Amino acid sequence: MGTDLDFVIFGFGGDLSRRKLIPALYELYVSGIVNENAQITALGRKDYSSDDFAELIEEAIREGKGNPPLEFIKPFSALFTYHKMDISSKDDYQGLRELLDRSKASKVIYYYAISPSLYTEVSENLFSAGLSEEKEGQKVIAIIEKPFGHDWASSIALNNDLHKFFKESQLYRIDHYLGKETVQNILVTRFSNSIFEPLWNRNYIDYVEISAYESLSVGNRIGYYDNAGALRDMVQNHLLQVLAIIAMEPPVSASADCLRNEMVKVFQSLRPFSDGDVKRDVVRAQYASTSLGPGYLEEKGVRPLSKTETYVAIKCYIDSWRWSGVPFYIKTGKALKSSSSEVVIHFKDNPHKIFSENENLSSEPNQLIIRIQPDEGMVLRIGMKIPGPGFNIRQTELDFHYSDSKDLRISDSYVRLISDAIHGDPTLYQRSDAIELTWKYVDPILKAWKEDDSIPLYSYKRGSWGPENAELLLSGKENSWRIPCSRMDSQGFCSL
Ligand SMILES: NC(=O)c1ccc[n+]([C@@H]2O[C@H](COP(=O)([O-])OP(=O)(O)OC[C@H]3O[C@@H](n4cnc5c(N)ncnc54)[C@H](OP(=O)(O)O)[C@@H]3O)[C@@H](O)[C@H]2O)c1
Repeated sequence: MGTDLDFVIFGFGGDLSRRKLIPALYELYVSGIVNENAQITALGRKDYSSDDFAELIEEAIREGKGNPPLEFIKPFSALFTYHKMDISSKDDYQGLRELLDRSKASKVIYYYAISPSLYTEVSENLFSAGLSEEKEGQKVIAIIEKPFGHDWASSIALNNDLHKFFKESQLYRIDHYLGKETVQNILVTRFSNSIFEPLWNRNYIDYVEISAYESLSVGNRIGYYDNAGALRDMVQNHLLQVLAIIAMEPPVSASADCLRNEMVKVFQSLRPFSDGDVKRDVVRAQYASTSLGPGYLEEKGVRPLSKTETYVAIKCYIDSWRWSGVPFYIKTGKALKSSSSEVVIHFKDNPHKIFSENENLSSEPNQLIIRIQPDEGMVLRIGMKIPGPGFNIRQTELDFHYSDSKDLRISDSYVRLISDAIHGDPTLYQRSDAIELTWKYVDPILKAWKEDDSIPLYSYKRGSWGPENAELLLSGKENSWRIPCSRMDSQGFCSL
């Protein structure tokens, strides 16, 4: 029987391949989505003995977070072929061509786990070797990692370059946030339940928070991060994708085209920033040292006097009938008090309060909290009567944790995304127009920060919730940030 899948990893020896790709492919092998008829070709510059190579695969699987059964490691490792080559050298592609010609798989997937500076060169080399073209009965795709460009112009240039060597339908630009079950569950919550959609607009929603807090500092990705910062690293891609899913109109169907068209419409409706808006609606900051560790500027590898932001908060508006006047606050940062990503939908308050004169025990606006990670799940905060005389009210939570359902297991987002690529489903991958629009949106912020020295770069304490100045963005006096909290104590209060 011939090979039905050729999965080619560019950058096999790198961090992404070890931490994400190999464990994800193993999980797909255990579930049968990758089977004995697959060939996984690992490309790299190093020499490995066959023992070292097998050990590397086994270690990656054991260190992976999915906790899968380990008895399939041997047959899974047998699917791998290591091929030493310099992926920048055109001549070296002859050997790869021979390998792939031999297997004649019906599906070829190239995974670019390499520096973005190599994306165009590798694509051109594949094209020149005749390896990017789809032949009769064969599908060929390239999965491309973020960052996809570093500003609007470079994202357009990269799309133009890649389109010389691949058709758009062959390009799968990965954003692992879209592979998260909890992000996809936002779609299900909105479009499979009839109770939310009527309320999902400016008439009932006061404001929306989308936050991704990380307790880790920049770690060993300083070289990349110091040239990127929080806006490029988190907002342009992950958090704007989440915003699009929260804000999109109901699609006609869940097909790739319908969903991606609706997401693009949200990006087209984002109100563009002018220079003055950046000063007013965007707060950037860097972490400073505390007893928990050094400040950003003292981290090894950071450029002296680097102005790279490790925290950013943005007030966004979507100019559409549905969202007119509703602020969306996006916040993300590193070296914060704890790690948590969530969306909070803040509903409007009651127009008229009839219960309780005691303002501490009266109704409060409802919140729907979608926990993306950790402790994936969802909470609806509602007012309940405190038993006893009168109508005193306490906020309580209808709280769902995926972890409480023993039969539901959440895999890493790479498992879902690679599985979709194998099945030829691009729904959760980003289209070229979406990428360019999200860069177009953040571009004026990058430009203003670069050109206007009067825009402050605030400081926040390592281990805090970020700079106090972020609260300057809050529009109404009633608006406030939610402190993330995954579990409530027995009294119903946040245990943080
Ligand atoms: N790591 C993450 O958590 C993460 C998260 C999101 C996105 N990404 C993206 O994923 C991509 C890979 O990241 P990474 O962290 O895995 O990078 P990495 O650890 O630096 O790995 C890159 C790999 O590419 C190989 N390589 C470079 N030039 C080569 C050449 N000419 N011929 C053959 N192999 C070559 C390197 O081989 P050598 O070992 O021989 O140098 C290395 O194994 C990047 O685009 C990154 O932005 C990574």
